[in-house]
Amino acid sequence: NKKISIAIDGPAAAGKSTIAKIVAEACHYIYVDTGAMYRALTYKALQQSVSITNEQDLFTLLMETEIELQPSEQGQLVFVDGQNVTSDIRTHDVTNSVSEVAKHRLIREEMVRRQQLFAESGGVVMDGRDIGTHVLPNAEVKIFMIASVEERAERRHQENIKKGFQSDIEQLKREIAMRDKLDSEREVSPLRKAEDAIEIDTTSLTIQQVVNRIMSLVQERT
Ligand code: C5P
Repeated sequence: NKKISIAIDGPAAAGKSTIAKIVAEACHYIYVDTGAMYRALTYKALQQSVSITNEQDLFTLLMETEIELQPSEQGQLVFVDGQNVTSDIRTHDVTNSVSEVAKHRLIREEMVRRQQLFAESGGVVMDGRDIGTHVLPNAEVKIFMIASVEERAERRHQENIKKGFQSDIEQLKREIAMRDKLDSEREVSPLRKAEDAIEIDTTSLTIQQVVNRIMSLVQERT
């Protein structure tokens, strides 16, 4: 079988990473969570009190930062300069600052360069906001995954409860809507469905149904 690239884009909390991991495993491909890379830089900037509105300072920081993504039994692990930050990059503070970091042109160019290196040898499932439009414009399979804000907030809420975290569904709705707004209205490679992407609305689909749809597209193209 030919090794292809699979791009999965869509708004916050639409289920991209859950689906991408399963598809990657089924295909024996690598999974690249590009959101985790922006989160990793955001985490380090907050730690070191680097202003997230200062593009040049953030870029300098990024150039001295090593971000590694490592597959493991429990899903993907994320390391910043060798330190495991897998759970640190999912905190409220990081989540609510990451879109500000991700809007800067210099930051995006360097992230895209690193992401394209990951995909060089083919056999990749990559999820994010600009994968089908900018990072892997030639991906054989492009998915644009959406779901209603209510459904996305509800899923996050259930995840939080399961992890024993405090969770307020109305606040989640507001935060998800705000992140979507920032990501789709920014100037540099905003969140957009690529012209040749296939839209999947997961609102009333199960994980297995979404996986099945993508796997049949993969089979057509390999
Ligand atoms: O996918 P996740 O929700 O972890 O992404 C976190 C944030 O990183 C997004 O809200 C967006 O601001 C940014 N991002 C991006 N481009 C990508 C992936 C993520 O701008 N390809």
